[in-house]
Parts: sequence; structure tokens; C-alpha cells
Amino acid sequence: AAPIDVDISKLEPGQLIRVEWRGQPVWVLNRTEEMLASLEKIEPRLRDPNSDKSVQPPYCKNRYRSIKPEVFVAVGICTHLGCSPTYRPEVAPPDLGKDWLGGFFCPCHGSGFDLAGRVFKKVPAPKNLVVPPYRYVTDTHIIVG
Ligand code: FES
Repeated sequence: AAPIDVDISKLEPGQLIRVEWRGQPVWVLNRTEEMLASLEKIEPRLRDPNSDKSVQPPYCKNRYRSIKPEVFVAVGICTHLGCSPTYRPEVAPPDLGKDWLGGFFCPCHGSGFDLAGRVFKKVPAPKNLVVPPYRYVTDTHIIVG
């Protein structure tokens, strides 16, 4: 399948857009400073905080799981059984509410992920969300694939 172009010039802070790549939903999220700060705080609750057992390109193997910290790109498919998690920047999901700092929640069996797609401990999903290969053409234009 062909790589896809994504225009991120209109992506507001905190906004998530969805595109399709290889028949899969891909998310692009513009993370605010506050969201980025949450990523370190949440690490004690995560199963694979350093993404050692998870899938991302080598250039995204960092705390942000991205090329530029503010722009997060991920495949929007739960690593448990393939449902699509919902974006929950503020509203805490059931059972994960304690100290919720924003993230994603899979309603199928209750897996939570932080704002870098990193999976929480004690949920069914085994791994972090997949980060697809992508690159910047300009500051406001990325190519996924
Ligand atoms: Fe997401 Fe099962 S498919 S928790």
C-alpha cells in the first residue's frame, strides 16, 4: 500500500485527527506542554514504559514515542484484540480513573494507554500501541508509510 500524506498545519493543541493507512486507522495528535509533562508522571503505572517490548521505528524509541515531542502518530488499534480505542484527553475511563492524566481507552475489554500509546499495567492489552513509520516533509506535512 502507498504511503499517505497528512497535512498537520491546522492541527490545534490537544486535537487528534484520524487518517487511514493500509486499511487501518492512524492517529495524529498534537500534544500540549501539559500532555507531554504527563508522560513522565504516568510511567509507574505502565507495563512497558520504555517500549522495549513494543513496536515503533527506532527513531521513535523515546519517552514521547515520536520524532517531534508534540506530534504523536500511532496506529489506532488496540494490541489486545483489535478494537479501536477512544481518545480521552480528560475524562477518566472506568477503573482507570485514579490519577488519570489523559490517554486512550479501549472499551472492548478495558485497556488503557497513555498519551504516547503506552499500555497500563493490569489491563488485557499486552503491548503499547504501534507507531507506524513516518517522516516529515516540512514542519506541517508528514508522510506515513
Ligand atoms: Fe482492546 Fe480487548 S480489544 S481491550
